[in-house]
Amino acid sequence: MKDDLTSSVTIFVTTAVCVVALIQRKQRRTQNSYHTQHPSNGSSLSQPWLSKQDVLQLRTKHFLKSVSVSYANTGGLMILKGNGSRLYDERGTSYLDTRNNVCHVGHCNPRVVDAVSRQLAELNTNTRYLHPTVIRLAQRLADKCPDPLQVVVFVNSGSEANDLALRLARAYTKSKNTIVVEGAYHGHTLAVLEVSPYKYQHSKEFDLQLQEEETTKGPVTTPGPHIWQVPCPDMYRQRHNTGKEYANHVQDGCDYFQRKGESTGAIIMEGGMSVGGVILPSDDFVRDSVTAVRNHGGVYIADEVQTGFGRLGSSFWAFQHGNHGIVPDIVTVGKPFGNGMSLGAVVTTPEIAKAFDSMGVEYFNTFGGNPVAAAAGMAMFDVLEDEKLQEHALQIGGYLKKRFWEIQTERLHQDLIGDIRGSGLFLGIDIVESSTLRTPAAAKTSFICSRLKQQYNILTSIDGLYDNVLVIKPPMVFSKEDADFFVESFSKVALELEELGATVETMEWTPT
Ligand SMILES: Cc1ncc(COP(=O)(O)O)c(C=O)c1O
Repeated sequence: MKDDLTSSVTIFVTTAVCVVALIQRKQRRTQNSYHTQHPSNGSSLSQPWLSKQDVLQLRTKHFLKSVSVSYANTGGLMILKGNGSRLYDERGTSYLDTRNNVCHVGHCNPRVVDAVSRQLAELNTNTRYLHPTVIRLAQRLADKCPDPLQVVVFVNSGSEANDLALRLARAYTKSKNTIVVEGAYHGHTLAVLEVSPYKYQHSKEFDLQLQEEETTKGPVTTPGPHIWQVPCPDMYRQRHNTGKEYANHVQDGCDYFQRKGESTGAIIMEGGMSVGGVILPSDDFVRDSVTAVRNHGGVYIADEVQTGFGRLGSSFWAFQHGNHGIVPDIVTVGKPFGNGMSLGAVVTTPEIAKAFDSMGVEYFNTFGGNPVAAAAGMAMFDVLEDEKLQEHALQIGGYLKKRFWEIQTERLHQDLIGDIRGSGLFLGIDIVESSTLRTPAAAKTSFICSRLKQQYNILTSIDGLYDNVLVIKPPMVFSKEDADFFVESFSKVALELEELGATVETMEWTPT
């Protein structure tokens, strides 16, 4: 009797457990399943599944429209996994990434992942507590900068770094007058938008005022009398023949401030103009511009957010490219520093730091330089150095350039590729209507970018004052095979372009 009862209870409990399990399974299915197996490598993604369409739809409700979607014309890309120079979408399709200069030592680099995971499991706080990893990272970054750049402030992004750089410059020079380069982008806070012609020239947010200078494109407007904009020192589609002549515009700016009885605060520029279309300024431009600014009391802020950490191959920083020997007063870094973790920094001189410290206000940044981000920075440095990725960038970039110049001599490409410029894995292919006239071909560039993605699963980006520069700035682990595949795919798209002829001009392509 007791045995019968026990077995009845056992049967009941087992049945109940099975029923509950079945119900739960059904519920999980109708919720469209958690823990999706990733198709590309079988890894488990602990997130509720949403289709690409669902994500797009939810974005229209919850995101600003001005937060754009890459490749929107083909429904956008849902990227769920990364590895080296590759990205994978929700179906496991692999894309060659030629545009991500953030995951510097490769997407999901295992050493960075490991360092971040271990630190996150141990502690994450702020810079008010002493922490060996954080200070060692500051030391390592300062060691990479020439003297007297040795004071480091950690922040979370390139925008924050440039924002703080402007504050440091203002504290030191007591002037907010700033010289900026046409086409430049330095970030998204209000202060740095004011020094970003790429944004303020196109935004109704600013009450732009006419500047006392004309460019070839007409009168120049800036967000106020404290901002002076100079032409981008582009030697390919040139307005001037020498860097010296371009630097005269910087001198004009200093003179303009002086006429108002004011000094110059700063010039902010990149050692390689990235959004401007991969323009490496000539030695005389850098030397003469910075000298003019310094003679009028100002400082040189070098924005290394895109170009830093060996990307150019020839030097660790873009501001060191060439032989001008000019050392900036303030350097800003971001994107590649944390290999995908939010990590940026400002490096400056003890003298400028002292001026800022005398302002009497604490600099506190809740997340800036937290131990987890610092662990990512340390691991990024380790991989960069151990795998000699700066040397690798020089080699692969040189090879890519050589291959592009080779195909440029072929009839198919002669009138399509106007210029191939840059250094290391910071390259720009200037797409033109005619090589002799150097007319920018924005529609063709857009077409190439779209077709590279659609036909060959290659992700590229477009920059430049005329939206016609195909920019190559991939993770630094970009291989020779990746380079070959890229050049060969580009050639096939060029052939397609030729077959389509003039119709491309009338097509609507919105790849980025
Ligand atoms: C040259 C440069 N500086 C600063 C920034 C701003 O960096 P973040 O987007 O990390 O704020 C960017 C971003 O694209 C950039 O290209």
